Amino acid sequence: MLAAYAARTASDDPLTALEVGERPEPEVPDGWARVRVRATSLNHHDLWSLRGVGLPAELLPMILGCDAAGVTDDGQEVVVHAVISDPDFRGDETTDPKRSLLSERYQGTFADEVVVPRRNLVPKPAALSWEEAACLPTAWLTAYRMLFTQSGLRPGDTVLVQGAGGGVATALVSLGAAAGFRVWVTSRHEDKQARALELGADRAFASGARLPERVDAVMETVGAATWAHSLRSLRPGGTVVISGATSGPNPSATELNRIFFLQLRVIGSTMGTRDELEALIRFCELKGVRPVIDSVLPLEQAKDALAKLEAGDVLGKIVLTRQ
Ligand SMILES: NC(=O)c1ccc[n+]([C@@H]2O[C@H](COP(=O)([O-])OP(=O)(O)OC[C@H]3O[C@@H](n4cnc5c(N)ncnc54)[C@H](OP(=O)(O)O)[C@@H]3O)[C@@H](O)[C@H]2O)c1
Repeated sequence: MLAAYAARTASDDPLTALEVGERPEPEVPDGWARVRVRATSLNHHDLWSLRGVGLPAELLPMILGCDAAGVTDDGQEVVVHAVISDPDFRGDETTDPKRSLLSERYQGTFADEVVVPRRNLVPKPAALSWEEAACLPTAWLTAYRMLFTQSGLRPGDTVLVQGAGGGVATALVSLGAAAGFRVWVTSRHEDKQARALELGADRAFASGARLPERVDAVMETVGAATWAHSLRSLRPGGTVVISGATSGPNPSATELNRIFFLQLRVIGSTMGTRDELEALIRFCELKGVRPVIDSVLPLEQAKDALAKLEAGDVLGKIVLTRQ
């Protein structure tokens, strides 16, 4: 079958580690299901994997991709939940110490077929296209959990989203606006600020700009480049929810004094549960919210797609399709 995979890892030039070519068809273990992939979407995770972050050499070659929407052997149209937890683990599967994401230990979704535990299949509603459904399991699920499980925000509260153009960030804007939050964004680019306003943001600012007032919560995925601004922007007792650090994990100032003196809450967040994925899908159906898609390319062009993501030349999600 055709697949886009990490043949090796390359910390400085991740695209040199990518191959697009034939891989063996997967075996289907008991209790697992084969999904014929109709659409998949890119995440920064795929670039981290090519750089070797979280992908040890002994697991290579590894098919990339966390997200998929497709059809099972018995004809069900499904969205794949990408968090693979231990079958014996009970509770919130994102807290399972043995959990992994597709493409970390098990082969990923940039392929004709992917196999996953049956419990990771969620019905795809007809209202969502294949391309839209393929955006939900990672970036959109992460945004859903940040906003609705972790932040403590209530309708009417003000939330700041850093880095408006990203896949998670566009999801945060769309979901937050639909939920009745006052959504403020920052971006380095005026066109991305304007697009965020179209998606429902109330105000858009240049990265690092002083805000007219402090906010109840900040959604942080950019990391070192925006961390100090995130903490400066919070009201006393406010919450920063962090799920990523694209610009680096070590800010020059960690702002410990500010955190304790203003009693700020710093909450880490990763992916979401299968139940949250089902709730996210219902939310999209009920509110008519749809993922923001930057571009759609065939799987054969995975390298071009990843180059675009690496360049940061993206607004929303990049989708790869198969017929
Ligand atoms: N924990 C989890 O479960 C989870 C899930 C999904 C993603 N993540 C992580 O979250 C991060 C974002 O993921 P994504 O898929 O949304 O990535 P993405 O689409 O590539 O988002 C990148 C965005 O970050 C902003 N940005 C990047 N570098 C910046 C800098 N130096 N200064 C200011 N802004 C900068 C940009 O915003 P502007 O161009 O608008 O300024 C850009 O649009 C990644 O690090 C990813 O690994 C984690």
